[in-house]
Amino acid sequence: METVVVSIGGSILAPEAIDPEFVMKIAKMLKSASKKFKVYAVVGGGKTARKYIDAGRAIGADEFTLDDMGIAATRMNARLLIAALGESANPVPPEDVNDAAVLGKKYEIVVMGGTVPGHTTDAVAASLAEKVGAKRFINATSIDGVYTADPKKDKNAKKIETLTHKELMEIVSKNGMGAGVNSVIDPVAALILFRSKLETLVVNGYELKELESAVMGKKFKGSIIKS
Ligand code: UTP
Repeated sequence: METVVVSIGGSILAPEAIDPEFVMKIAKMLKSASKKFKVYAVVGGGKTARKYIDAGRAIGADEFTLDDMGIAATRMNARLLIAALGESANPVPPEDVNDAAVLGKKYEIVVMGGTVPGHTTDAVAASLAEKVGAKRFINATSIDGVYTADPKKDKNAKKIETLTHKELMEIVSKNGMGAGVNSVIDPVAALILFRSKLETLVVNGYELKELESAVMGKKFKGSIIKS
C-alpha cells in the first residue's frame, strides 16, 4: 500500500472558532483515503497557537518558549482529529517522527502535531514523508496554491500551478522565520522536500473536494511541486 502524508494547517482545522462538523468531514475523508493509502496527518496549531505565541511574545518570552507553546497547541488539535477518527487512528499524538512511523505499522491513520522548536508542522510532515517513503506530500493550507507573493497582502501576486522544488525554496525564503510566522510552506519543509524531491501538492484545505482529490492522487485545483 502506498503512503501519503498530509500537513493539515491549523488554520484549517482550528480557525477562530472550531467547527466540529468540519473536523468530522476531514476525518471522514481521511478514513476513506485510508482504504487505498496508508495515511499520516500532521496537524498545525492554528489560532490557538497564534494566540499563545502573540501573548507570550508581548510578555517577553523567548522564541524557543513560544515555539513550545505552539507545539502544545498543535498536539491539542491533533487530539481533536484523533477523537474524530476513533479506532482508525493512534489514540495519542506521538512526539517524534520515528514514533509516528512505528505507529503506522499498527494504525490505518497516524495523526501527530509538532515535535521540537525551530520549525512548523509542515517540516514535521516533510520529515515524516521522508521517513515513511511517502508517494506524495499534501499541504492543506488556507490558500489555494503557491503564489509569487502572499496573495493576502499583494494583489499582484500570481498563482503558479507547477513549479520545481528549487523555485519553491526561492519563494518561501523571502518570508521570516520567527514563531508563528505564516507562509504557504515553512522554509525548513521546503528544504527537506527539495533534498528528497518529494512530489508536493498545495491545496486549499477548506475545499474538501479538492483536498480529497489531492490526497487520492487525482486532478485537483492547486499547485504541484516536482523536480
Ligand atoms: P504550525 O505548524 O501550526 O505553524 O505551528 P504555522 O505555519 O504558524 O501555522 P499554520 O497552522 O500552518 O497556519 C504553530 C507554531 O508552533 C511552533 C512554531 O512556533 C509554529 O509557528 N512549532 C510547531 C514548533 O516550534 N515545532 C513544531 O514541530 C511545530
